[in-house]
Amino acid sequence: MKFRKSPLKALLFVLLSGLVICGLVGATSRAYSKSQKTEQAKTSQATSSPAPADEYVGAETCKTCHEDIYNNFKKTEHFKLTLYSNWKVSDKGCESCHGPGKAHVDGGGDKTKIRTFQDLAPKQISEVCLRCHAGREEHNNYKRGEHWRNDISCVNCHNPHGPKATNKMLTDKEPALCFSCHNEMKSQFSMPFHHKVPEGAMKCSDCHNPHGGFELKQVRLATGADTPCMKCHADKQGPFVFEHAPLRVEGCVICHNPHGSDNPKLLKRNEVRQLCLECHTDVGTIAPNTPSFHNQATARFQNCTTCHARIHGSNVDRFFFR
Ligand code: HEC
Ligand code: HEC
Ligand code: HEC
Ligand code: HEC
Ligand code: HEC
Ligand code: HEC
Ligand code: HEC
Ligand code: HEC
Ligand code: HEC
Ligand code: HEC
Repeated sequence: MKFRKSPLKALLFVLLSGLVICGLVGATSRAYSKSQKTEQAKTSQATSSPAPADEYVGAETCKTCHEDIYNNFKKTEHFKLTLYSNWKVSDKGCESCHGPGKAHVDGGGDKTKIRTFQDLAPKQISEVCLRCHAGREEHNNYKRGEHWRNDISCVNCHNPHGPKATNKMLTDKEPALCFSCHNEMKSQFSMPFHHKVPEGAMKCSDCHNPHGGFELKQVRLATGADTPCMKCHADKQGPFVFEHAPLRVEGCVICHNPHGSDNPKLLKRNEVRQLCLECHTDVGTIAPNTPSFHNQATARFQNCTTCHARIHGSNVDRFFFR
């Protein structure tokens, strides 16, 4: 072919070979992602393999020998799944977690023929639950959380059968549940000023997602860093015409201890002005200088918020007087 002589054909050639190359690249990357998918399928099979339907016997059969557990199980949300005729047999009843039970039953209760969880690592236990719960409610990010990373599994907090505290199948009520491991937080909540968590007026999980999320410290996911606070203190959020910069930038916890404090209003410093002067220094670094007329030798100027009363922001005054 003499296409080289024709600029049009040459262009066509370039375009066509371009397409071929793109096609090749596309094909390899497809092949690559396919092999990746089979890998993924293998891994997920290892944790969740739905065996042939005839290896499942149904919860009623388990009941004949494990009646107590069955009766507890009956009180849980999971029991409802056994009532759905359109649910796969592998996804309901005892066997949704313990795997197919026929061999165990045929063996007269042979422990080696069923998943007992005793030899599973915490992360593997969680995987059994995440087979269904990843993508549900608020557990999408379990693997982002400190609990996952630190080998705390679902059953550290949830009892799959026989709930002591029936609400959400928790092994214990909040905050006792959380204090059982986070004992060091108790002292923060016994400070003179604290959020009324020990009194039961609010829960740790109002501010934290025990399952993990995108924010540091598993604080609940927010548009700004402080949605957990805004749920109850919406008036502090604004938007304000005149915003106090640190609220947006650092968030509430730059000035407040969220759990508890020796200082009124959960402040980090026992005098309001100490707090302010950390940023509004005389040398003026982060924020502008405190005007020189703010003579700190005179009591009049010591209590900053008597004048700058709308310290969280204001719609009418740039100095937050009102
Ligand atoms: C939601 C998942 C799930 C379901 C449904 C479930 N189990 Fe379990 N089961 C577990 C887990 C997890 C453990 C291990 C608990 C642990 O280590 O704290 C366990 C432990 C057990 C044990 C041994 C420990 C004990 O409590 O005596 C038996 C027996 C048992 N399950 C039987 C059953 C029977 C029978 C059913 C149905 C009536 C059932 N399970 C339903 C998850 C489940
Ligand atoms: C024929 C009676 C029988 C039936 C039916 C039966 N089991 Fe069992 N199961 C037993 C016995 C007996 C043991 C205790 C074995 C041992 O301790 O060595 C046992 C142990 C277990 C264990 C291990 C408990 C442990 O201590 O670690 C699990 C989990 C379990 N069964 C789940 C089930 C599930 C799920 C079903 C229904 C699919 C079921 N069983 C049906 C008799 C039965
Ligand atoms: C076969 C799928 C499946 C498996 C496996 C599974 N769950 Fe569930 N679970 C569900 C469904 C469906 C619900 C109903 C919640 C809903 O309405 O979305 C539920 C509800 C729950 C609830 C809420 C209970 C309530 O009172 O609201 C908790 C807690 C829970 N599961 C924990 C677990 C834990 C822990 C495990 C592992 C030991 C587990 N689940 C394994 C499907 C599953
Ligand atoms: C550190 C303790 C902890 C761990 C670990 C934990 N949960 Fe929870 N979970 C809770 C608490 C507390 C609640 C109740 C929150 C509330 O009252 O709103 C809850 C609620 C739930 C609910 C009900 C959600 C709803 O919106 O009603 C489900 C389902 C659930 N957990 C499943 C799981 C699964 C699956 C795992 C493991 C992947 C897990 N949890 C691990 C503490 C935990
Ligand atoms: C079985 C033990 C256990 C229970 C129960 C438990 N936690 Fe944890 N939690 C841990 C461990 C271990 C870590 C990681 C190490 C650490 O930061 O202390 C952790 C980390 C956290 C973190 C993140 C801390 C950070 O530095 O990022 C928060 C927030 C948290 N837990 C809140 C809770 C809440 C809320 C509850 C109750 C619903 C709870 N935990 C129940 C063991 C537990
Ligand atoms: C009013 C909201 C709120 C409540 C209620 C709350 N927390 Fe927190 N918690 C926070 C915030 C915000 C942070 C992050 C503080 C920071 O970044 O300085 C935090 C941090 C933490 C940390 C990490 C501490 C560290 O030093 O790294 C743990 C663990 C924790 N909380 C556990 C709990 C437990 C357990 C409870 C219940 C007993 C609880 N929290 C109740 C808001 C709350
Ligand atoms: C579930 C609702 C709720 C959430 C979420 C919440 N608070 Fe509170 N907060 C309250 C209640 C109710 C009070 C006053 C009653 C009391 O003393 O507990 C309070 C009191 C306060 C006080 C002291 C007010 C005073 O007059 O002494 C401060 C400061 C505060 N919260 C800051 C925060 C911060 C910062 C966050 C987020 C980390 C937050 N709150 C999250 C309910 C909440
Ligand atoms: C720049 C420091 C600073 C930041 C950031 C800050 N606060 Fe405050 N906050 C204060 C001071 C100072 C007071 C005490 C005012 C006074 O002296 O009466 C206070 C008081 C409060 C009070 C109790 C008094 C009232 O008006 O009800 C609540 C509730 C509160 N803050 C919540 C929040 C929340 C929620 C955030 C995050 C959106 C936040 N604060 C961010 C400094 C701050
Ligand atoms: C974490 C640092 C920080 C703390 C603590 C802080 N501020 Fe600020 N403040 C700022 C920054 C940053 C600005 C914005 C400066 C700018 O816009 O140039 C600002 C702005 C102001 C303004 C408006 C200044 C202007 O020129 O518009 C006033 C008034 C003010 N702060 C008072 C206070 C008082 C009173 C306190 C103590 C209750 C306080 N600030 C605590 C960082 C802080
Ligand atoms: C007696 C009332 C009063 C008290 C108390 C007070 N201020 Fe002021 N503040 C003012 C006035 C008036 C201005 C100037 C407003 C103007 O320029 O129009 C001002 C301005 C400011 C500005 C803005 C400076 C600028 O030029 O941008 C900052 C920052 C500030 N004050 C911080 C503080 C701090 C920190 C304290 C506590 C140590 C405090 N103020 C106490 C009345 C007060």
